[in-house]
Amino acid sequence: MNTLFLDIRNPLQNTEAVRTAAALLRDGEVVAMPTETVYGLAANAFDSTAVEKIFAAKGRPQDNPLIVHIAYVQELFDLAASVPTAALRLAEKFWPGPLTIILPKRDCVPEAVSGGLSTVAVRMPSHPSANALIRAAGVPLAAPSANISGFPSPTDVRHVMDDMDGRIAAVCDGGNCEFGVESTVLTLATEIPRLLRPGSVTLEQLREVIGEVQVDDAVLNPLQAGQTASSPGMKYRHYAPEAKITVVKGSAEDFYKFIEKNANKNDFALCFEEDLPHIALQCVTFGQADDPFSQTHRLFEALRELDEKKAQTVWARDPSSDGVGLAVCNRLYRAAGFSFVYNTCIVGITGITGAGKSTLTKLFAQKGFGVVDADEIARSVTEKDSPVLVQLAQAFGEDILLNDGALDRRKLGARAFADAESTEKLNSITHPAILERIRTTVSDLQRDGKNAVLDVPLLFETGLDRLCDHTVYITADHDIRLARLQQRDGLSAQEIEKRMQARHDENYFIERSDFVIKNNGTQPLETLFEDLSEKIMA
Ligand code: TXA
Ligand code: MG
Repeated sequence: MNTLFLDIRNPLQNTEAVRTAAALLRDGEVVAMPTETVYGLAANAFDSTAVEKIFAAKGRPQDNPLIVHIAYVQELFDLAASVPTAALRLAEKFWPGPLTIILPKRDCVPEAVSGGLSTVAVRMPSHPSANALIRAAGVPLAAPSANISGFPSPTDVRHVMDDMDGRIAAVCDGGNCEFGVESTVLTLATEIPRLLRPGSVTLEQLREVIGEVQVDDAVLNPLQAGQTASSPGMKYRHYAPEAKITVVKGSAEDFYKFIEKNANKNDFALCFEEDLPHIALQCVTFGQADDPFSQTHRLFEALRELDEKKAQTVWARDPSSDGVGLAVCNRLYRAAGFSFVYNTCIVGITGITGAGKSTLTKLFAQKGFGVVDADEIARSVTEKDSPVLVQLAQAFGEDILLNDGALDRRKLGARAFADAESTEKLNSITHPAILERIRTTVSDLQRDGKNAVLDVPLLFETGLDRLCDHTVYITADHDIRLARLQQRDGLSAQEIEKRMQARHDENYFIERSDFVIKNNGTQPLETLFEDLSEKIMA
């Protein structure tokens, strides 16, 4: 289909273009129109065949109803079976403007528009071009946002052309959309009015006019299995760019720290303008931190920009949910598929044998820290049938595997520690897998909002210290450690001396650690730990 491009930015001057678009609408065609929220894909609301073309152009599921756009309040009575005074009070206060009201529908509203529901959603847009177009068409216009289903809503005519060129009869240019997120959707068809979708008309403003308003669960939460959506649109993945977005919960400081610790250099940050000097990644901004209108205005455009830049992994700032901010959170959380992460406290512990590393780790665990034990992870990456085990067998001989396919640790040890070269080979196979698993274990804990303590002998050598907010070196005098290990492991002094041989002298650790704990028994480790955790949590 050849799509006409019509400039109606100034509807009083571009009367010819407005008339052309209106004629297409009366002929049962689909026309993209600007509104003050986002661009819409319009058709005659009373013409089922025309409305069905909208669903085809968008690839929209049939059960997702459309909003009907009117130019006079009077038209509300042609669409709704009953119009309560609350509706009229809201109309008086917020129309024309970004508020959609849901009411029981009249029979003349086709099923295609209501998605089979007994209600109809109506709004009167304030954009002068939209207004002119509805008047010229002479009929109410059913219109969803003018994006392909699942993509971010278009806030500029360029986005509409990207998605709709060749699919519909005409695209009307009305300039950049003022608000940038879709209208507030409120249903009056429930016993208590209910906010189904937040927008630029805020919850607080609605309550001022009509009193009690409930907020639908789906506004800030994913639909649970078995739950039905009050608004069918809520059940579909929405506003989603190609990139995997994760929202970092917490303050600006948390955001910067999290990125410094966890982001890879090809990752993107979706952040506010004032964050730019603090972030070393490629950034796409969506407004200013204290101005939610600037955020709604920019958000969808920013999501499209991320795709244009081929972003894969994106870390997003968590906006305030006050006022219009609720609309920003609602759209951003959906774009992120409700994926959140917290900048939790990560403590790395290292130390020499016999100093009390495991006991210190346990004390952190008792305070609710998730334990990431490098030795345990080292064992788990060489589990039966693991890719690492396959590589080890190739490098050191198939007979390092026992009959049941598990690793014979003794045999591997004998070969791998026979000389420096073999040890090197062992490490080059196991270390990357161990590091990777440690990182994912930490990030799983962060997604659950849990602090983590890392028990890692090679904390500094592997660079894992960079993942930590605090590093702790635990040590004790030689003779004390010797006595402890003799008691614990029942080995001879000679064997223990061999195990205690350090790869670095003490200074290597002391210089690199934020805290040094000398666990000589003069004070109980519990006391030293309380002191340490107080400093860490300060
Ligand atoms: O700002 C806007 O509202 C834009 C512009 C073009 O006006 N339109 C828009 O339409 O965002 P759309 O189709 O993308 O979103 C309409 C939302 C959907 O989530 C839909 O499920 C819901 O409103 N909706 C429509 N009629 C409904 C009804 N009768 N009951 C419950 N939800 C309804
Ligand atoms: Mg939409």
